Amino acid sequence: MAKIDAVCKEVIEKTEWIAISTAGPDGPHVVATWGDYVRALGINEDTILIPVGLMRKTEANLQRDNRVELLCGSRQVQGTRGPGKGCALVGRAEFQTAGPRYEAVKAKFPWARATLVVSVEEAKPQL
Ligand SMILES: Cc1cc2nc3c(=O)[nH]c(=O)nc-3n(C[C@H](O)[C@H](O)[C@H](O)COP(=O)(O)O)c2cc1C
Repeated sequence: MAKIDAVCKEVIEKTEWIAISTAGPDGPHVVATWGDYVRALGINEDTILIPVGLMRKTEANLQRDNRVELLCGSRQVQGTRGPGKGCALVGRAEFQTAGPRYEAVKAKFPWARATLVVSVEEAKPQL
């Protein structure tokens, strides 16, 4: 069954940016990517690819603890109480610097030093 359901997919298709949070030894750490970057790489039912330019601290955090949570939202998606819906994507992530997922990112974003591959385990709608 698809981990990223139709509602969360619609939010990802319309979000301007996506927050990416990891856990570090001194607490939580949040970075971001643009929604159009993620869309350019294609959203399948349980994997998100993110081009990595910097994200050094995120990389160090994931080497210790590969759990990740993403959060995005859009006013263009109808929520239960009005315009605006969000989606949290919970899963595991790793940096890849070789292989087909890295090549796919490099082809669209020549500046990328790696691909952040997020394997979504649960998608949780908000609002
Ligand atoms: C809206 C937005 C989009 C961003 N997109 C990316 C991105 O696609 N790739 C990236 O490496 N950094 C991106 N950044 C910068 C990261 O959030 C982060 O500041 C930087 O990568 C350093 O990460 P670090 O603190 O884990 O070392 C973006 C920042 C913002 C605010």
